[in-house]
Amino acid sequence: MNRYQGDDIASAAPAAGVRLQEVRADDDAAVQAMARVHRQAFGSKGWSAEDIATMLRVEGTEALLAHAGERPVGMIIHRMLWGDGEILTLGVVPTMRRRGIGSRLLATAMNGMVMQGANRIFLEVAADNAAAIALYESLRFEPLGRRPNYYLEEGGRRVDALMMVRIFGGGCGG
Ligand SMILES: CC(C)(COP(=O)(O)OP(=O)(O)OC[C@H]1O[C@@H](n2cnc3c(N)ncnc32)[C@H](O)[C@@H]1OP(=O)(O)O)[C@@H](O)C(=O)NCCC(=O)NCCS
Repeated sequence: MNRYQGDDIASAAPAAGVRLQEVRADDDAAVQAMARVHRQAFGSKGWSAEDIATMLRVEGTEALLAHAGERPVGMIIHRMLWGDGEILTLGVVPTMRRRGIGSRLLATAMNGMVMQGANRIFLEVAADNAAAIALYESLRFEPLGRRPNYYLEEGGRRVDALMMVRIFGGGCGG
């Protein structure tokens, strides 16, 4: 049974000319490219290639790298755990933002997890990250709760984590 109701994930912005590549832990070049994109997107909080490869070796974890032409410009890592989906990270390089790349990555990851049976997809985001929250809301994620002072920003500032969830309806007897 396909529990996905259909309309909203697939209608995410098309991000013309952008190609998505599935990345596995043993694809060294692609993992390195993901780390570069992550560093450009997150600055000093960027993850290393080793961090990413380690994460990708955990069962249920998948990753996508977005290319504009030959250039890696965006990435997402997501995981299925006990039937639920989770977005572990999502980033687009600063010069390529607001072109639909983030929503295309997220929508593709969501579709993949729904096809694997996820009824719920969770994520955490810094409560002051207006761009990411707007993106998640555009794909119908809703606030679930807060973890106070969860993130440590540069300069020692603490920021709450906002937990969000997207619940897929339409299932019966599942
Ligand atoms: C969040 C992020 C991934 C968005 O990527 P993106 O490719 O720019 O997103 P999209 O172009 O697909 O945006 C889709 C929608 O999200 C919302 N959005 C995205 N960026 C926004 C911004 N800066 N301000 C307000 N709304 C924004 C808009 O509704 C946008 O649609 P629109 O452009 O038609 O108005 C990107 O800003 C980023 O990498 N930020 C740094 C890393 C980060 O914070 N990652 C998320 C951590 S959980």
